[in-house]
Amino acid sequence: MKISGSIEQTLIGKRIVLGVTGSIAAYKAVILLRALLREGACVHVVMTQSATKFVTPLTFEVLSGHPVSTDLFAAQQEMKHLSLPEQADAIVIAPATANCLAKSALGLGDDLLSTMLLTAQCPLIMAPAMDGGMWTHPAVKEHVQTLRARGTVVVDPTMGLLASGQIGQGRLAEEGVILEAVQTALAPRQDWHGQRILVSAGPTQEPIDPVRFISNRSSGKMGYAIAEAAQARGAQVVLVTGPTALSPPRGVEVVSIATAEDMTKALSMRLAWSTVVIMAAAVADFRPKHPLSHKIKKQGPADRALDLERTTDILSFLSAQRTTQLLVGFAAETNDLIAHAKDKLTMKGLDLIVANDVTTAGAGFGSDQNAATLIDRQGSMTELPLMPKRALADAILNHAQALLRARQSNLSPKPANMGRG
Ligand code: CTP
Repeated sequence: MKISGSIEQTLIGKRIVLGVTGSIAAYKAVILLRALLREGACVHVVMTQSATKFVTPLTFEVLSGHPVSTDLFAAQQEMKHLSLPEQADAIVIAPATANCLAKSALGLGDDLLSTMLLTAQCPLIMAPAMDGGMWTHPAVKEHVQTLRARGTVVVDPTMGLLASGQIGQGRLAEEGVILEAVQTALAPRQDWHGQRILVSAGPTQEPIDPVRFISNRSSGKMGYAIAEAAQARGAQVVLVTGPTALSPPRGVEVVSIATAEDMTKALSMRLAWSTVVIMAAAVADFRPKHPLSHKIKKQGPADRALDLERTTDILSFLSAQRTTQLLVGFAAETNDLIAHAKDKLTMKGLDLIVANDVTTAGAGFGSDQNAATLIDRQGSMTELPLMPKRALADAILNHAQALLRARQSNLSPKPANMGRG
């Protein structure tokens, strides 16, 4: 059991919403709050009205360093019921009363905390506490079952002396046990351990002269999110990136390039090392045929033409050389999304293509969100709604992993080289 801070804090940078409901065990939430803080978490406390009868919000406010939210209607002005869960890495409700479990199981939202739970996408950990044999009531049992089936982590209350003087199961679990449940829920899956992933990201820049180039609007966010997600899930990752304003993801080897030709070289020399290649880069399709070594001056003819030539299609090039690597490409389209994406999947000899309509509002270049359809060479199509690029990165990795597993169990044939070369 961990009640004092560990040397290595395990929740650094994690944003946790601590929900406190109206049980006599509410005072124990203060101890849990301190344990979460000691592990490096940033904690926002949300209390139900009845919880405030047991402990004052001021206690939580002072210790957490953040205002405590209690009122749906006050909070609604700032849309707290949406913003708090959206920003949270996890929601922990301790103590959770029988009423709180029931509302969550039934999807009721009549106060700030229960409404928040209806909008939350992050892991939810509930630590119930209740007296008088309530824990074994069939209704409570059913609600706990429903919550668990939905993915909620319910930390069983313990047996012992209850506030009423009875002995029974209903005491809030020790803070060390709840903390461990939070740590487990937030621990990154290591399901990509053993895989070596080459990811490309960002735009390329094709020089016209020493001060000018042809490029595109790619921010690199999608490729960086994939590199970050794969690294967090245990893969070894090399990120080959064009110029972006992003910080290199932690634990990822970054190779910076500028032109499509540099990117081709950087990727092809690492192809044999890799098990999976994900091309999220927006590679320039054309480059100036004769880049100049001196700056083009304004004087001279008013009309000028730029001679362009095709760059290498990197995916087709890699596809022709690969042995067993899984190849994932993107299709950035403005029209006929699925038809164009399917063509690219076949022409470039890919296993999976992420088709995204770059004209969708709030998605595509520069945005933090993206919507996409995943199409694989077995013909399966998965439409994904607008979501943060990091969530889309995980969805792409999930699909790629399913293809790797299917291949391993010989459910699908080895990839054929269908590239254009
Ligand atoms: N790609 C590549 N080499 C290029 C151009 C693109 O490897 N020279 C990759 C991209 O990284 C992406 C996929 O091919 O994964 C599709 O890129 P996209 O820009 O959508 O299509 P293009 O092949 O460039 O074709 P078009 O511009 O005509 O749509």
